Amino acid sequence: MATRFALKLLKQSVSNVVRQKPNVVPRYHYCTNAAPTPPPRKIPHSSKKGRLFTGATLALLIGGGAYASTVDEATFCSWMFNATKLVNPFFAFLDPEVAHRLAVSAAARGWVPREKRPDPSMLGVELWGKRFSNPIGLSAGFDKNAEAVEGLLGLGFGFVEVGSVTPVPQEGNPKPRIFRLPKEGAIINRCGFNSEGIVAVAKRLGAQHGKRKLETSTTSSPAEDDVKQGGKAGPGILGVNLGKNKTSEDAAADYVQGVHTLSQYADYLVINVSSPNTPGLRQLQGRKQLKDLVKKVQAARDEMQWGEEGPPPLLVKIAPDLSRQDLEDIAAVALALRLDGLIISNTSIQRPDSVSKNPVAQETGGLSGKPIFPLSTNILKEMYILTKGKIPLIGCGGISSGEDAYKKVRAGASLVQLYTAFAYGGPALIPQLKAELAQCLERDGFKSIYEAVGADCR
Ligand SMILES: Cc1cc2nc3c(=O)[nH]c(=O)nc-3n(C[C@H](O)[C@H](O)[C@H](O)COP(=O)(O)O)c2cc1C
Repeated sequence: MATRFALKLLKQSVSNVVRQKPNVVPRYHYCTNAAPTPPPRKIPHSSKKGRLFTGATLALLIGGGAYASTVDEATFCSWMFNATKLVNPFFAFLDPEVAHRLAVSAAARGWVPREKRPDPSMLGVELWGKRFSNPIGLSAGFDKNAEAVEGLLGLGFGFVEVGSVTPVPQEGNPKPRIFRLPKEGAIINRCGFNSEGIVAVAKRLGAQHGKRKLETSTTSSPAEDDVKQGGKAGPGILGVNLGKNKTSEDAAADYVQGVHTLSQYADYLVINVSSPNTPGLRQLQGRKQLKDLVKKVQAARDEMQWGEEGPPPLLVKIAPDLSRQDLEDIAAVALALRLDGLIISNTSIQRPDSVSKNPVAQETGGLSGKPIFPLSTNILKEMYILTKGKIPLIGCGGISSGEDAYKKVRAGASLVQLYTAFAYGGPALIPQLKAELAQCLERDGFKSIYEAVGADCR
């Protein structure tokens, strides 16, 4: 396969080089009085420099192709992931939002490596009747408009969550609204739900969903899958995170609209009531407000026509800045309404000591990354104990290594998610996290993720 890919690449590149016509003067149509811009200077291929350049390109491609054709698929894959590390310093120079836009576009076009190596079977998780080939997911906010689902899943995430998606398209807060704290491995954002809206996202997911279904139907059974794909679970799991419009006064109506339009494409749905950048949103985490909201959303979902698989599970994403009383209230609602899961947590409005000296920490918004790891992991643990391990939890907040992911699992998470460390570390981080997580499990004598879930709470 690696050989085939390398040869294809080589063939395409050679034909591109050969196809270029030398000295073709482009036609310009001038419709203003402005002085015409001269066409960019090109090195003619017939010149000495041009021949040298073409020769060097061909030599590089032939050499690279020859090398790639000698290695097996796993080596080639590992090489491709490691090669992405070379691009990271370039991204660090760009404005954070521009860098993010570029990364999403690259993933949408498939200009990212594709994980071909099977996940270690001990990382497999079966939840809500779905099989996750590994428990490491990409959290909401990275692919807000579902532009790059295939590319992101292809990187080897066990699942990808798109959104938050609002019913009506909205711009979000004025830019700049994303701030890096690289030394601290953190980000502060006040995006404010910039979203293309549910209709645009539904169209995109609709186009992809057909393919996802098709792919699912070609993989007959998990057992056969294991043999054919070495432990890979079909096309991957997609979560859809729902938000509300800033100016909307009826939050429940917003989430219900999201459910009506998007739930058919989702493997799971999330009610996001924890972004700090939409005024009043976090109040929906209060006992009565949350109960009313979840009941309405569950009813809307259950009224829809569902096939054999049934409706997608419904989760609530909460903040890391909640009091003990808040947590007890949320746990009570989750248990009473048989919520399918909780995501713990979103970004924080706190500024722990580890960031407070950085002037960027003064920016308004939600803090994410390493500094919130203790905060969000403590809340996760408390929630696992309060819900007696009966509600599946997704641990999120500050994960940047396999050991961090492992700590979340021990604190009660069945699955984990990350954003900030991926923004800094890029694709190479994903295989690294999976390998480290498997090592942690083995080190402590666990044969599977299940065995380790909540180990620190027993
Ligand atoms: C720039 C940015 C945008 C985000 N947008 C959303 C969002 O739209 N919806 C949401 O639920 N979480 C959003 N998040 C929060 C992340 O999903 C995640 O919960 C949080 O960053 C903690 O994880 P981390 O420390 O691994 O980044 C966003 C985070 C960042 C950094």
